[in-house]
Amino acid sequence: MESVDKLREELLAAVEAAGDLDALEQVRVAALGKKGRITDQMKGLGALDPDQRRATGQALNTLKDAVAEALDARKAAMEGAALDARLGEERIDVTLPVRPEETGRIHPISQVIEEIVTVLGDMGFGIAEGPDVEDDWHNFTALNIPADHPARQDHDTFYLPGPDGADAGRLVLRTHTSPVQIRTMQAGPPPYRVIVPGRTYRCDYDATHSPMFHQVEGLLVDEKTHMGHLKGCLEDFCRAFFGIDDLPVRFRPSYFPFTEPSAEVDIGCTREGGELKIGRGGDWLEVLGAGMVNPNVLRNCGVDPEKYQGFAFGMGVERMAMLKYGVPDLRTFYESDLRWLRHYGFASLDMPTLTGGLNR
Ligand code: DAH
Repeated sequence: MESVDKLREELLAAVEAAGDLDALEQVRVAALGKKGRITDQMKGLGALDPDQRRATGQALNTLKDAVAEALDARKAAMEGAALDARLGEERIDVTLPVRPEETGRIHPISQVIEEIVTVLGDMGFGIAEGPDVEDDWHNFTALNIPADHPARQDHDTFYLPGPDGADAGRLVLRTHTSPVQIRTMQAGPPPYRVIVPGRTYRCDYDATHSPMFHQVEGLLVDEKTHMGHLKGCLEDFCRAFFGIDDLPVRFRPSYFPFTEPSAEVDIGCTREGGELKIGRGGDWLEVLGAGMVNPNVLRNCGVDPEKYQGFAFGMGVERMAMLKYGVPDLRTFYESDLRWLRHYGFASLDMPTLTGGLNR
C-alpha cells in the first residue's frame, strides 16, 4: 500500500500542474478512474487486517473527496480564464468609422401620389378617402352605371358573395375611386373640392394592367364651376406634374356614365423609333378621364342639379408614374425587387414640393 499522505501530495500537485482541461481530465482518470491510483488502493483494502482496513478506508475516502473537489475548483478556474481571454479578444473598437448603411427608398407609386397631391392640394383640393370594399350602389348604381354595363360583369370586377352566397347584397372590390365622389356628397352639403388617392381592383393582368392598381379621383361641385374651369385645372395639373410649361393638352370627347359631357385628356408627345417622349410633338397620349358631373349622379346623392354643378376627373397612378419616369412594365411595381427599387425609387427625404421641384 502507498502512503495516503504521499498520494495526496502527488495527486493535488498533479491537479495544480495541469495546464488545460485535457490535462486535467487525464489527472482525474489517473486518480479516480477504474484503474486510477485511489481506486487501486481501495481494491487493496481487502488484504489488510480489520483495524487498518477501517482507518485506511476512511483516509482514502477523504482523499477521494479532496481530489474531486480540487479537480472541480481547478476546472472552474480554467473555464473562467478561457471566458476572460475570449472577452478580451473580442472587445469592440468603438472608435472605428461607421460602415455606410444601405438606406431605404420611397416606392415610385408613393412618390407619384405625393406629387399629384402636391399639385392639386396647391389648387385647393382636400383629400377624401373611402373603403376598398364597396357595395354595388356606391361603385356602380349611384354613378349612373346601368345594370348592363360591361364593367359590372364578373369578368372585370372582383365580387364578394353576399349573405348565403347570394348575388343580392354582394360586395365588390372597388373598380375605381369614383364611389368616393358619392360618399363625399352624401356626407354633407356642397361645395365639394376633393381628390381621392387610393387602391382600385380589376380582374386584369399584363404589362399595363394589374389586378390591384391606384387611381386619383377629383371632384369639384359648387354653384358656378363650368367646363372652362375643368379645362384650366387639368391643363395646369398636367403641365405642373410633368414639369413642362408649354406641354400641349387636348380634350377629346368621350363617354362616362357619371359625367356629361365627358372628355379624355391627352398630352403632347413624340414617338420616335419606339421611344416615347412627352412634350411638344405631333403625337398624343391619353392620361386622364374627366367631365361635368352628370345631373343624375348629383340627384342620386341628394344634391340639387338645378342649383349645383361641377366637374370630376380620374387618373391611373401607375400610368402617370410609367409615363413620367419611363417604367416600361407595370408589373414591376409589385415585384418587390430591391435592385428595381434602388433604380426607380426616391430618397426618403426627397419630398416633392412646388417650389423645390416635382421632378428629380
Ligand atoms: N372612373 C373612371 C375609370 O376608372 C375614371 C374617371 C373618368 C373618373 C371620368 C372620373 C371621370 O371622375 O369624370 O376609368
